Amino acid sequence: MTGDLLAISDLHIGYAENRRIVEELRPGGADDWLIVAGDVAERFDDIEWALKTLRGRFAEVVWAPGNHELWTLPDDPVQLRGEARYRALVELCRGLGVHTPEDPYPVWDGPGGPVAVAPLFLLYDYTFRPRGTATKAEALAAAHAAGVVCTDELLLHPDPYPDRESWCRARLAETDRRLAERHPALPTVLVNHFPLRRDPTYVLRHPEFALWCGTEHTADWHLRHRAAAVVYGHLHIPRSTVADGVPFEEVSLGYPREWTPRGGPAGPRRILPRGRA
Ligand SMILES: [Fe+2]
Repeated sequence: MTGDLLAISDLHIGYAENRRIVEELRPGGADDWLIVAGDVAERFDDIEWALKTLRGRFAEVVWAPGNHELWTLPDDPVQLRGEARYRALVELCRGLGVHTPEDPYPVWDGPGGPVAVAPLFLLYDYTFRPRGTATKAEALAAAHAAGVVCTDELLLHPDPYPDRESWCRARLAETDRRLAERHPALPTVLVNHFPLRRDPTYVLRHPEFALWCGTEHTADWHLRHRAAAVVYGHLHIPRSTVADGVPFEEVSLGYPREWTPRGGPAGPRRILPRGRA
């Protein structure tokens, strides 16, 4: 098998310019796979359009949810909240033939493989706390004082869990179990909208925003689950870093106001094979 394992996130196709980018996005060859690491859009019809469009072009599409897919906007005809919304997104993807965190992990057998491509939905638990704070309440107070509060606080409902950190805890337990079940000889490509480690958040312009960016509990998952690479987004700071010899790829497209000063939008990043321009 030939082809490339490609990844992109944070498509935000509510912006016309970004929608056009998705319209024009094409694989380099018939065997290319595309990982979509969350924040496609907020409205169900937009999410469906984008994933259906991409599924029609790539040999496989693998999706992990971002926080924006989980927002319940007042003008979305789909008013589901929390877990019910997530489950409806999973069913939408299944209907389109898109892999989700609830499905068996597809195996990339192309160049750089074989690896299990594992989309994850883990959320965050307010443990990426600002310096000088020790609890979620203190951390949130500091964020409010700095004027940095993620819109998730208003639109990402945790139902039926009492709060987002409880939902995160349930996802961590379930996902850790699923990952441990895969064939132990098979390395992984871990795909999570939120960074698995805190260090990528150190470059955030507003450090308080890290509260809504992940959980300390996944700091060693790239080692525990034998990651050949880790793919994430959410920060809108596209870059490649390495931790313990494992490449971490932030693959966000981001908002037009972010990619315009960079000279234009970045296309999907090649995850495998590595080391080829
Ligand atoms: Fe996000």
